[in-house]
Amino acid sequence: MVGIGTSPGKIILMGEHAVVYGKPAIALPFFSVGIKSTAKVIQEESKIESQCYTGLLRLADNEIPGIKRLVEETLKYLNKNEEISLKIESNIPPQRGLGSSASVSVSVVKSLFDLFDVALTKEVLSKLVFVAENIHHHNPSGLDATTIIEEQVVLFEKGKELQYLNTNMNGYLIVADSGEFGHTKESVANVQKNMKVNPLKTKESIDQLGILSTNAINDIEEGDLVSLGSHMTQAHKHLQDIGVSNNTLDNLVKTALQKEALGAKLTGGGNGGCIIALSDNMVDAKNIADALLGEGAKHTWIYHLKEI
Ligand code: MEV
Repeated sequence: MVGIGTSPGKIILMGEHAVVYGKPAIALPFFSVGIKSTAKVIQEESKIESQCYTGLLRLADNEIPGIKRLVEETLKYLNKNEEISLKIESNIPPQRGLGSSASVSVSVVKSLFDLFDVALTKEVLSKLVFVAENIHHHNPSGLDATTIIEEQVVLFEKGKELQYLNTNMNGYLIVADSGEFGHTKESVANVQKNMKVNPLKTKESIDQLGILSTNAINDIEEGDLVSLGSHMTQAHKHLQDIGVSNNTLDNLVKTALQKEALGAKLTGGGNGGCIIALSDNMVDAKNIADALLGEGAKHTWIYHLKEI
């Protein structure tokens, strides 16, 4: 018997980092990329095959400690002692702010429940995935995993009930991978440090990021792409101020804006990873994507907001 689990990536539209400090964030599932996990019961010792590690699960502590714990906890939850093999196939570039680590976790848990033919609720999935996310990121807000589990546009605020947003927007998001690894854990720690070293300025930026997320909710509800783009670009400036952008990302944002993007910003943990830009038509979206590739982006995707 075989168990299969699939899951998409995610894009944070607004509110990354600020969400860690209790501000609202808006994120979307990113269906252009994803992960497939295949689980089987085997006779020999449990093993795993993935981009990051291939070998015995027992020896995976250094390379994939979060996934190792996740598999152990999931099997414990399912009350299973079987030896298993897991194959994880991904086209989400890792460490680029597109939710690769949360998506791996979601697909692994889904595949194990599918293998043993046990129904899986979102609550249980969320609890199990948090085991791995906590090891990967230390105190994550839960935004990444929630977006990937829900597969809907979410308005996420720590400690508040999750809300779903209806994006009936005829716009295009251009996602560009800088090719540089982002380090979410370090970026989050950097903001924490800036909060201590320069509390007034950092807190002001975090507050502004929260306000911009709230403004973006109205933009989405009213389908106002011009206003949403402007709020995105303003958010990028505050993300620069709290120390999570870098020259590569700033240059890609500038390039997108020069090519008539309605707005652009980094997405996810920053200090590497991806940017997103907004356009209201496919011709501009293609021009923007080409210009970003010309400036060194390693990959671009054009995501029609109506696809979600
Ligand atoms: C990472 O994708 C998003 C951050 O806001 C961290 C988090 O929410 O835990 C940077």
